[in-house]
Amino acid sequence: MGCCIVGCGKGLPLLDVTNDELAELVDTSDEWISSRTGIRSRRISVEESSLDLAEVAARQALGWDGETPGFKDQPAFAPEDIDLVLFATLTPDALLPSSAALLRRRLGLTNAVAFDLNAACSGFVYSLTVAEALMVASQSGTNGSKGRNKYRHALVVGAERLSRITNWDDRNTCVLFGDGAGAVVVEWRDDAPGIISSYIHNDDDTTNSLVCPASFDSPFVFDDNGVNAALANDPAGILADASLDRIDQELGVAEGVAAGEPRQAIRMDGQKVFKFAGNALTNAVLEVLDRADLTLDDIALIVPHQANERIIKFAAKKLGLGLERFQISIAHRGNSSAACVPMTLSDAYDSGKISSGDKVIMVAFGAGLTSGAVLYEA
Ligand code: COA
Repeated sequence: MGCCIVGCGKGLPLLDVTNDELAELVDTSDEWISSRTGIRSRRISVEESSLDLAEVAARQALGWDGETPGFKDQPAFAPEDIDLVLFATLTPDALLPSSAALLRRRLGLTNAVAFDLNAACSGFVYSLTVAEALMVASQSGTNGSKGRNKYRHALVVGAERLSRITNWDDRNTCVLFGDGAGAVVVEWRDDAPGIISSYIHNDDDTTNSLVCPASFDSPFVFDDNGVNAALANDPAGILADASLDRIDQELGVAEGVAAGEPRQAIRMDGQKVFKFAGNALTNAVLEVLDRADLTLDDIALIVPHQANERIIKFAAKKLGLGLERFQISIAHRGNSSAACVPMTLSDAYDSGKISSGDKVIMVAFGAGLTSGAVLYEA
């Protein structure tokens, strides 16, 4: 018995932006981007919100938009079947309510407990791990529910609009990111193993290698003495929020912000992140294998986070695996953070690379620094 993946889907924005088009914005080239990252184009949402993309992915995973590749014998779920919605994102459309609550309302999932989770690019793997833990605990009654609130079906989503926190003047980062959403439906089954092992892990990002401060629009009218009425009419009143400056110092962005860089934008030390990512990906794969008492020979496919094809190649070499054992979908997507793993999983199902009974590892890494993996039997 266990938590089985019984549906999967993805939602992509319409606009496809090529490397050549980006070369009109910043000093870069298709040759540089594709040889250093494997990315040729990325989807950018113009009109689609994170929620719109998530809705498309979720409807597909729930079997509401016809047959889902890889799950052809699975009947569509009824809205009231879903007990739990976990929504991984670092780019929600709103702070209140959560994206999960909005998705619950749009889809009419009236029985679901719904909340968001931010673990950056590892968000989907973290969310799946949390969903599984809640589902397992609720079956056994160890969560103090007295048998009530049994979570039998979870909708786990990763959706992002990284384009809204990208500095389109910064060639070091803007060529890497894209938008999109992916979703899975997880079902508690008495007769199948489903998720066999999982692993989530944090390291401190001591050098601020991957950061993005949050910005707030409302004027801040307090100083050390309390309300400062003069600030209420000052368009630059927000600058009086001394805590923002302290956060900028803590994240190492104060100098850039003072020099006029956009405040709420992703900043990254590519080489430091690359080094962390290659090792984190490898370690997480080995850790879930060890926890499951399995070896790489037992694994049909690895579905990694898509940040840079060279990171996947690095991990493949370290693990002694051929690249054909990895699902690589980066060429026309780029890195869409928490959406990457479920979208890439959906690609693997679409192309028939996952069959019933196969053992699959999903693995991710990201800001925080976070990393993790989930090993399951399809
Ligand atoms: N086009 C052209 N040149 C660029 C460029 C671009 N888009 N971006 C950077 N460069 C330049 C740099 O300025 C540097 O020039 P310099 O030597 O004159 O200073 C040169 O290319 C090499 O930069 P470097 O950082 O050494 O390149 P790299 O081979 O490490 O590749 C990344 C850069 C960002 C692609 C790579 O480090 C990476 O993928 N890191 C991990 C990113 C990641 O995974 N992020 C998300 C984690 S979830």
